[in-house]
Amino acid sequence: MTERLKKLCAFLDECDAFIDVGCDHGYCTQYMLENGLCRHAVIADVSPQSLSKAQRLLGAYVNSGVCTAVCCDGLEKVPRDGLTLIAGMGGEEIIRILSSAYIPQSFVFQPMKNAPALRAFLLDNGCRLEYDGLFTETRGGTVKYYFVIKGTRRGGGAPYSPAQLAWGRHSLGTPELKNLLEYELEKLESYKNNGLSATSLGGVEERIKDIKGVLADEYN
Ligand SMILES: C[S@@+](CC[C@H](N)C(=O)[O-])C[C@H]1O[C@@H](n2cnc3c(N)ncnc32)[C@H](O)[C@@H]1O
Repeated sequence: MTERLKKLCAFLDECDAFIDVGCDHGYCTQYMLENGLCRHAVIADVSPQSLSKAQRLLGAYVNSGVCTAVCCDGLEKVPRDGLTLIAGMGGEEIIRILSSAYIPQSFVFQPMKNAPALRAFLLDNGCRLEYDGLFTETRGGTVKYYFVIKGTRRGGGAPYSPAQLAWGRHSLGTPELKNLLEYELEKLESYKNNGLSATSLGGVEERIKDIKGVLADEYN
């Protein structure tokens, strides 16, 4: 298992049914089953090739009926009740999956991009975000940053500030976010030397101002 998957799995609580949407290799479901953290699991993927990887890995569980394999788009054919994991997809794709079906009663989402849009969607739909932060993985000497959102369909919560919406409520003030913001700033500063149009330059300047604002508020 990669460091990302190990850290992601640490967000998965014991449950009756575990549903792994976009399971691909099936390692997260393997973690749940081998650690006795769920009674039943569903592995689901839109790609038959991806699903077959998980089916091979979890063959004994599939054969005994403890794990069910479903080839479908998003939540289309998976049971409604259970802890649902959707990881390793873009935030917009996760929003599309939820919008075209339902928001699971409890969930862990790990979007690869567009986390702010996913956060806004979940909050607009009255979800309670129990944990909304980030974790890192070091691969080949490079640090990668991943947002993770764990919550429930109901329960709402206090409104988010713009910085919380952009970076995650539990990321703010952490050393991981400070490093990410400094990295983003460096990248944006370098864009300024790339002969951008006035409009693009304006966008970059605006983003630099926002990030500097978060750094000043959270880390001084
Ligand atoms: C990058 S892999 C992520 C695998 C695993 N969840 C992880 O975090 O490592 C993305 C997987 O999601 C599947 N996928 C993409 N869109 C999907 C959808 N709409 N419904 C179900 N699976 C989807 C892909 O086929 C692929 O197997």
